[in-house]
Amino acid sequence: MPPRMTDPNRSLLTLRGLDAGTLTTLLDRAESLLPVVRGADHIPRIVSGAVVGLLFLENSTRTRCSFEIAVHRLGNHPVILTGQGSSLVKGESLSDTAANIAAMGVQALVVRTSLAGGADLVARVTGLPTINAGDGRHEHPTQGLLDASTLRSHLGSLEGKRILIVGDILNSRVARSNMHALTTLGATVVLVGPPSLVPWSFAECGPQIEVSHDLDAVLETADGIMMLRIQLERDAGRSVSSDYRVAFGMTSSRASRLQEGVPVLHPGPINRGVELDDAVAADIARCLVLEQVARGVAVRMASLERALTSGAPV
Ligand code: CP
Repeated sequence: MPPRMTDPNRSLLTLRGLDAGTLTTLLDRAESLLPVVRGADHIPRIVSGAVVGLLFLENSTRTRCSFEIAVHRLGNHPVILTGQGSSLVKGESLSDTAANIAAMGVQALVVRTSLAGGADLVARVTGLPTINAGDGRHEHPTQGLLDASTLRSHLGSLEGKRILIVGDILNSRVARSNMHALTTLGATVVLVGPPSLVPWSFAECGPQIEVSHDLDAVLETADGIMMLRIQLERDAGRSVSSDYRVAFGMTSSRASRLQEGVPVLHPGPINRGVELDDAVAADIARCLVLEQVARGVAVRMASLERALTSGAPV
């Protein structure tokens, strides 16, 4: 099947290369939709009637449910396909799966897959507006946007801010999307973790990217901190020692050294007692995981609206 063109103004495959204006437009639109998510405003039927295929071929709680809610909130209809419930288990390829769903007449696709580049492949095979909901170690653009939205709302602006991302950077699509978004919006990103998960080569990604293997040395320089999970499903457990929490966990003791107002984020799912202590997770003034989740619905509404409306600015 020949590759087809997908409209870059509708698809969201990566945050790499999106300029500050595009990111800010999406974030501003998400901000305006947040009252809908919080139940304080009416449900806008902005693009009613479209059918959106949600291809969740790798496990997900937050991303899948928030996309499904976002589709409903916009007055559209989701069709959900999961890996285990599909003919992928009989050996059908991702390309053929996507082409078949597209042939049924959906107007856009959302793709979660363990295959890096999988969302881009789906966009090229189908020519449909496609949103990457996480593809292997590559990117998770709507997670990067919801994290930027959360940080922006707490810090006012990201310009000149110093954001620590701590943990399994090597295997993290969340870290990659955040690096693109946060630096484009003016922040410096400090990648922190053991050398096995944060090689020095990450420092070559750009002038606003730093690497540290010593969390305690950089902790108090942070304007915001994002803790990441060790990605056991990508074999990262082999690369960490049993005292990971002692060296890189956000313990209560470390949290007490943070300046007041420095937020702690985590994309979820949390491995409690490893990268985040229970007491830190329970401190809702500091730890914004559920605010991130709420903002995720608004960001996904804004991304779907962009996908479904003729490339017009949102
Ligand atoms: N943050 C995130 O992508 O979570 P899920 O894997 O549960 O969707």
